[in-house]
Amino acid sequence: MTLQEFLARIAEVEERAVSLVAAASSMAELEAARNHLVGRKSGELSALIRDLPSLSAEDRRHAGAAANRVKASVESLLDSRGSALSATVPLVSGIDLTMPARRVWKGGKHPVTLVIEEIEEIFRELGFTIALGPEAETEWHNFTALNFPPDHPAMDMHDTLYLDETVLLRTHTSPVQIRTLQSFAPPIRILAPGNVYRRDFFDASHAPVFAQVEGLAVDEGVSFVDLKATLTNFAKRFFGATRTRFRPSFFPFTEPSAEMDVECALCKGSGCAACKNTGWSEILGSGMVHPSVLDASGVDSERYTGWAFGMGPGRIAMQRYGIPDIRILYDSDVRFLEQMAR
Ligand code: PHE
Repeated sequence: MTLQEFLARIAEVEERAVSLVAAASSMAELEAARNHLVGRKSGELSALIRDLPSLSAEDRRHAGAAANRVKASVESLLDSRGSALSATVPLVSGIDLTMPARRVWKGGKHPVTLVIEEIEEIFRELGFTIALGPEAETEWHNFTALNFPPDHPAMDMHDTLYLDETVLLRTHTSPVQIRTLQSFAPPIRILAPGNVYRRDFFDASHAPVFAQVEGLAVDEGVSFVDLKATLTNFAKRFFGATRTRFRPSFFPFTEPSAEMDVECALCKGSGCAACKNTGWSEILGSGMVHPSVLDASGVDSERYTGWAFGMGPGRIAMQRYGIPDIRILYDSDVRFLEQMAR
């Protein structure tokens, strides 16, 4: 190789370097260009420099000086392109993009909330609207207006959480019946979901705070047939083909009164711990609104009749999801809630 050939080839490399470096649009492409041009093993410039010994001593001095100048200029081209590139991608520099993503937790509704929403949906289709009342309630709304005699055991300090002489934590959602009857004229069809409080021991089937869904329908000519048909229809809609039964019961604010059971979904009626070996699970209390309740709320009990019910969505959730112990619903154990979340 002559000195002229050497200088021509080195000029070619310098030209190629300018376009290669300008075309590099990422750090990876720039590194590839660096390798191609000045890489120790496979770089074009390095290969030329390795050929220097084939020149005469005099030519080698010129050629060597030219090679060093071009190498320095290519390297400074590479470096300035490098800092330009890293300045345009500040979000990426310094971040390890191969790190695993942070785990995202998906929230879900509690099974009791899901059950309440489903109950609301079914009754909404029947023309019921949602009514709400306070959890801190007067003794009058919670007991007196609901026809509890003054010496009723439920009013005892042992069963009810009193906040002061006349205000208590409601023991059921039935006071919403009174508040609704006081503020709206029949026809009335309301559903009142909410929490209630009782001084119960916390065992497999009792909790000191639990949800109830109250229902109330008042109009002219409303009868027990409406109660039974509506609640049976509800059970069919909610549980599918499950069998139901009504048992006579007693509440001070309804007459006659009945409790509705559904065949225990956990044992299919053969008896288990969840249904206390009866094969049935009680899901609600109900009855025809007592005339004294209508009178106490200022509704004409000669003209109007009504029926009401109070359901336990916790009990219903146990049936729906096969939960054997009500405490599981209140433990907030994420492993359980994750299984239920929809
Ligand atoms: N309030 C009653 C209870 O808590 C349930 C009920 C509501 C019964 C309405 C009849 C009518 O047990």
